[in-house]
Amino acid sequence: MTLENKVAIITGGAGGIGSATADLYASQGAKVVIADTNEQAGKKLEGMIRKKNGEATFCKVDVSDYNSVKNLIDFTVEKYGSLDVLFNNAGIGIRKPFLELDLKSYHQVIEVNQHGVFYGIQTAAKKMVELKKKGVIINTSSINAFVAMADRFAYQVSKSAIKMMITSAAFELAPHGIRVVGIAPGSVNTDILQFHRKEGTLELARRGQMTNRLIEPEEIAQVVAFLGSDESSSINGSIVKVDDGALGFKFRFDQKQSK
Ligand code: NAI
Repeated sequence: MTLENKVAIITGGAGGIGSATADLYASQGAKVVIADTNEQAGKKLEGMIRKKNGEATFCKVDVSDYNSVKNLIDFTVEKYGSLDVLFNNAGIGIRKPFLELDLKSYHQVIEVNQHGVFYGIQTAAKKMVELKKKGVIINTSSINAFVAMADRFAYQVSKSAIKMMITSAAFELAPHGIRVVGIAPGSVNTDILQFHRKEGTLELARRGQMTNRLIEPEEIAQVVAFLGSDESSSINGSIVKVDDGALGFKFRFDQKQSK
């Protein structure tokens, strides 16, 4: 499996899953654009990858802003001359009980997680069609697209929307040779689980997995590398559950505990 010379954008590239993926992609020969709001972490990662003789460039982006996403696509093609993979991965979580969910929080989550993914799919696909590139667009959904937990209404709605975006966009983009796929991670050891650490409930997140441990971001990156490679050419319009069995076999959260 190799990503040699593929040009890949990774949104949320400075975060846990994104940075592990950027690192792996670069080590497999891809030219990586680390796209994130977090300039400091993004530039640090760029330096780290370059030190290992990988190719990476940071580009500041706010995925909830259509023009910012469009600029990211243009920047990438200007810099590296192509676009083979978009990993639409930036996301946020705001936890509030449904009856206390204010409009600001609701819109914030939907704008980043849901609208941001649409902006990415559409702008990348337009560019791939223009360049006649048979690229792949990989999107980060979640096990929360399949099961509901307390206090995550907006997050779950957004991740569920991504599920249908994948199928719907894949259907229309297939004639252009563009694949649209996704991943649904279980509990991954990144900053997004900070609330569990603060509240001392990390054990609950661990217990959601078959092996009673958090999934490491590097394990997710391996799947994203496969999906971005030509070896996964027969996977299209679907979501790979990267959840260590959380959904299918041993989903042990309950409403009260999952808070
Ligand atoms: P993280 O918090 O480490 O990374 C998220 C990254 O997205 C951060 O670097 C952040 O700066 C960036 N970001 C946030 N808003 C942005 C915006 N408007 N524009 C551009 N970048 C923005 O968390 P993690 O876990 O790496 O999250 C990556 C994706 O994985 C998210 O979509 C998340 O919902 C999803 N996910 C994570 C799970 C977990 O347990 N860690 C489980 C299931 C899904």
